Amino acid sequence: MAAAGGLLTALASPTKLLLALFLVLHLVPFSSITAAAAISVGVNYGAYANNLPPPVQVAAFLKDRTFIDRVKLFDANPDMIRAFAGTGISLMITVPNGDIPSLASRSSAASPAASAWVASHVAPFYPATNISLIAVGNEVLATADRNLIAHLVPAMRSLYAALSAAGFHQIRVSTPHSLGILSTSEPPSIGRFRRGYDRAIFAPMLDFHLRTRTPFLVNPYPYFGYTARTLNYALFRPNSGVFDAATGVNYTNMFVAQLDAVHAAMRRLGYDDVEIAVGETGWPSAGEPGQLGVSVEDAICYHTNLIRLVNSGKGTPMMPGRRFETYVFALFNENLKPGPTAERHFGLFNPDFSPVYDVGLMRSQAPAPAGGSGRRWCVARADASAAALQANIDYACGSGGANCRPIQDGGACFYPNTLLSHASYAMNAYYQTAGCHDFNCDFGHTGVLAAADPSRGNCKYQ
Ligand SMILES: *[C@@H]1O[C@H](CO)[C@@H](O)[C@H](O)[C@H]1NC(C)=O
Ligand SMILES: *[C@@H]1O[C@H](CO)[C@@H](O)[C@H](O)[C@H]1NC(C)=O
Repeated sequence: MAAAGGLLTALASPTKLLLALFLVLHLVPFSSITAAAAISVGVNYGAYANNLPPPVQVAAFLKDRTFIDRVKLFDANPDMIRAFAGTGISLMITVPNGDIPSLASRSSAASPAASAWVASHVAPFYPATNISLIAVGNEVLATADRNLIAHLVPAMRSLYAALSAAGFHQIRVSTPHSLGILSTSEPPSIGRFRRGYDRAIFAPMLDFHLRTRTPFLVNPYPYFGYTARTLNYALFRPNSGVFDAATGVNYTNMFVAQLDAVHAAMRRLGYDDVEIAVGETGWPSAGEPGQLGVSVEDAICYHTNLIRLVNSGKGTPMMPGRRFETYVFALFNENLKPGPTAERHFGLFNPDFSPVYDVGLMRSQAPAPAGGSGRRWCVARADASAAALQANIDYACGSGGANCRPIQDGGACFYPNTLLSHASYAMNAYYQTAGCHDFNCDFGHTGVLAAADPSRGNCKYQ
């Protein structure tokens, strides 16, 4: 885009000044509404831990202190379901894998077990608790258990019939999949489901989703797919991309590529209209000493970009304009999870509710993360020269690819109309989108990282 310096000089005429003022004032109600409504994100409330607070406290905390508006449970624990009553937070609950065979029905009607499941796990709590989705099992295909797999789609149909019979027409039914359901996924256009499952399992499942307008749920984890070479690709940082010759698309992010690979597999079976939702995705904030790509900074980078992407309405190259209902893994660091250290550090919060880091999900009165590990913003140093500030704007808004519309004439951050203020906005926009490494805020020693959000009024820093 044109350098902001041009815009500054363009403001000489009083008419333009009045017009700019009019635009700013006129935009106030609109932008404050969209700013508040912009974030919608879910979390997985896992509980492999012996130090977590009681569910009622968790529900109150999420409602009062965060923007998190959806929660996914790995079971149908009545205490947890009841805790979310009256919170406005919508809930995904899970049928345990072991219950799947009994729920299945041979006919299109509900099995007695499915009706009983709804009567005991849904009816007592709904609608006080807004159960919005029921997951039938978790990553069932990955169990390779033929009995479970054969009964999965019949169980989904039967549960859906039982919900309809009970009058619960708003509750959706789905089942989460690991990306192991794909036999090929790179580049995205060759994505396809595993042979043997494609026509037998996925075609009838996608048909169910199409008819019931429910989402196909996938758990993409770039964290489990990166190498030293693809770390930046996995973390939404600048990288040379993966070129898909069939579509001419240059993918610069693994999460987006994974979603498109799933979409390509669905399209191969004729179901590209089915919505995709993300049941789990995340990035740990700590791992083994020296583990590549695992740090608070990396986790912030992944989640900031992820949340922005799924809410942006930009969609992906194959699914332009879509939003993706997304559940981050996980709400808490879970101290009893087995496996490598990173497994116990996927949480957004510690068990005492202090944020491990904040990626913009905290309402303002919440405490800052302990140890200075919270979100940071890049701002221009007050003593930087005008020439350096202008050069930073030109770079960040030009080849740096930052969105600088807000500092243009009429934008929410146009005032104060100073080089310092415009440069800070542009440098931060670059830092947040293009890298989120400390060195992305260096700008030849004219940038500095701040712990306080520089946003003011309608001017929201990313
Ligand atoms: C329940 O949750 C769904 C999905 O988030 C939402 O669309 C709906 O408005 C909620 N219903 C109520 C009564 O809050
Ligand atoms: C893909 O995009 C990246 C980043 O913009 C660029 O460096 C790379 O050259 C591109 N690759 C192709 C094949 O277009």
